[in-house]
Amino acid sequence: MERKDFLRTLGAGAAFAITFPCLGGCSKDDENDGNIVDPPTNVDFTIDLSASEAAKLSDNGGFIRKNLVVIVRNLEGNFVAASQVCSHEQYDAVVFDSRNGGTFFCDVHGSRFGQDGTPLNTIPNSTPRALKVYNTELNGNLLRVFE
Ligand code: FES
Repeated sequence: MERKDFLRTLGAGAAFAITFPCLGGCSKDDENDGNIVDPPTNVDFTIDLSASEAAKLSDNGGFIRKNLVVIVRNLEGNFVAASQVCSHEQYDAVVFDSRNGGTFFCDVHGSRFGQDGTPLNTIPNSTPRALKVYNTELNGNLLRVFE
């Protein structure tokens, strides 16, 4: 049976459901990661480490994302921060990977960066560019992230 014959046997509604399953609902824009955006500018904000939004920063290797910045408590217990927007093709998909000493990682094409933003690998047909990193300053429970 050919595809069109198969669809005809299902009726118009079922054929539509099979043929167009993603209309209005499957674009990359609906996902949490993977949107192309401009990198953050004029970064300067504070996180209250006692607030629930910062709970993942209580453990070494934990990270959160806020204002397009990835904020990390690295394996040594120090706070580091970098752009959530990848330097490769500007997808907002950068996370922290605590394996192998801890690196920033973008799973869109696999870019990996040191905690100082240095590119650690090369994506085919592209020139490695550093990931933007930000300063951090801890005052009591308040962590400031700034350029
Ligand atoms: S956009 Fe991050 S690796 Fe390509």
